[in-house]
Parts: sequence; structure tokens; C-alpha cells
Amino acid sequence: MSSQLSPIDTAKFIAAKQATEYVESGMKVGLGTGSTAAWLVQCLGEMVRDDGLKIQGVPTSEHTAKLARDVGIEVVSLDEAKWLDLTIDGTDEFDDELTLIKGGGGAHLREKIVATASDRMIIIADATKKVDTLGAFPLPVEVARFGLPITEGLIEETLIGMDVLGRDIKQRMAGDEPFITDEGNFILDLHLKRIGDPRQLSLILNQIPGVIENGLFIDICDVVIVGHGDGKVTVRDFTNDTSEVVRFDVRDDDNIFTSVAD
Ligand code: 5RP
Repeated sequence: MSSQLSPIDTAKFIAAKQATEYVESGMKVGLGTGSTAAWLVQCLGEMVRDDGLKIQGVPTSEHTAKLARDVGIEVVSLDEAKWLDLTIDGTDEFDDELTLIKGGGGAHLREKIVATASDRMIIIADATKKVDTLGAFPLPVEVARFGLPITEGLIEETLIGMDVLGRDIKQRMAGDEPFITDEGNFILDLHLKRIGDPRQLSLILNQIPGVIENGLFIDICDVVIVGHGDGKVTVRDFTNDTSEVVRFDVRDDDNIFTSVAD
């Protein structure tokens, strides 16, 4: 195992590395956002440079678009790609049903659109992202800037009838300024602590005028790849109901990706 990486970065890196097994030349690939997805983009960039891999990448954020171009991946828009073979992305939480909370990086709107336009969605994660019940991670909800207090009030009212433990809502900030998504919207983080019925919550939130998209991903993800700090990776494929364990031995000189750990 590389002495250059912390156990958590090792876990993210080997999950990303394992996910590259699903990528073949000629594919159109959705590229996720966040620190785990950044490892994936680095790994794919290396394959483009060294192994002649030819793919078109559709990034889920401006940040990922820049990283993908920097490492040599051909970047195209979703409109140009039209449909994708697969999307590989990180997650903030996932449960046994492969329901996800995403949007910790503020990109869940584009991430959901891109994943839904893909034959397959693969999630890469370290083991801390697995939960029995979703909701410890605040649920991101992308909302229009116009009428923010009205939208927030409607969400507050809606939460009263929902199976959740907490009801705090906080607007996401970037320093002293509101956080603005790549689509030009605000984010409200819902501190729910426990989400009893993600499907019902997702449907009802998305009916509120002003809500653009919530961070619950339901029936979208097909495969989850979980990395562990000791080099073990578990792959669970829901499409054919299989589980596999893979072991990585990252050598000390395998430290070329150290720079992407953020
Ligand atoms: C960004 C996301 C990310 O996938 C999620 O926040 C996980 O990020 P990381 O891999 O850095 O833990 O949903 O909107």
C-alpha cells in the first residue's frame, strides 16, 4: 500500500481504479464530481495517455470539466453525446437499496441528469458512505434564487408531514456569500438526521415550485464499488445480483495521483 496516501484516499483511489474496468474505448462516459470522482478522472486520463483509451467524457460540473481536459480526456457536452454508456460518480451516502444522497459538492442537478441519461450508473465510495438509513448527511436541494424565502417556507411545511427526525434547513454558503451552483441556483441543505421514506420525500419535494432538484437518487444506480483503506474493494452489481471482492496492492511508487486528493 502506498505510504503517500491516507487510508481514506487509498479507499477512494482503489474504488475509482476498479471502476475503470467498466470503461472501454469508444464509450461515452459521464464523469462525476467530488474527490472520489477526481481520482477516477485521473485514472482515465492516465489510460488515455498511456494505453490509447479513446472515450468521450461528459462532466457533471465545471470543476470536473477542467480536470478532465487537464488530464487529456476529450470532453463533450451532454447535448453532443445524446446518450451515455455509463456514468461513474461518488456519493455522500448510500443504503442497501442503492438509494443515494448526493450533492455535497453542489452538483447533484447535473449529476442526476447525466446519470439518468446513461445505460448504467456506477457509484464509487469509501466504506464510510454506507449507511443503514439515509439522512445523517444533510440532503441538498437545489432551488431557484427567485422567491427563496417562499420556497424555504414551503419545504419547512412539507417536512412536518414527513418521516424525518430533524427539520433544520440551512442555505449553503461559500464563505460570506451564498453558494451558487453551475446552473446558477442556490442550495438548501436539509438536516433531517433520518429519512424514513426517501421515495415519498423526493416526490413531494420536487412538487414544490422553486425546488429544482433534490439530492436523492432512487432507482438510478446499478453498481456500487466500495474501497477500503487496507486495499480491499467490494463490487456489488444490482443488474445481475453479484458481489465480488478484489484486492489491490498499491506500491510505494504508485503515488502519481497524490496531487488530486482534496
Ligand atoms: C457532488 C457529489 C459527490 O459525489 C459527493 O459529494 C461525494 O463527494 P466525495 O467523493 O468528495 O466524498 O454528489 O455533488
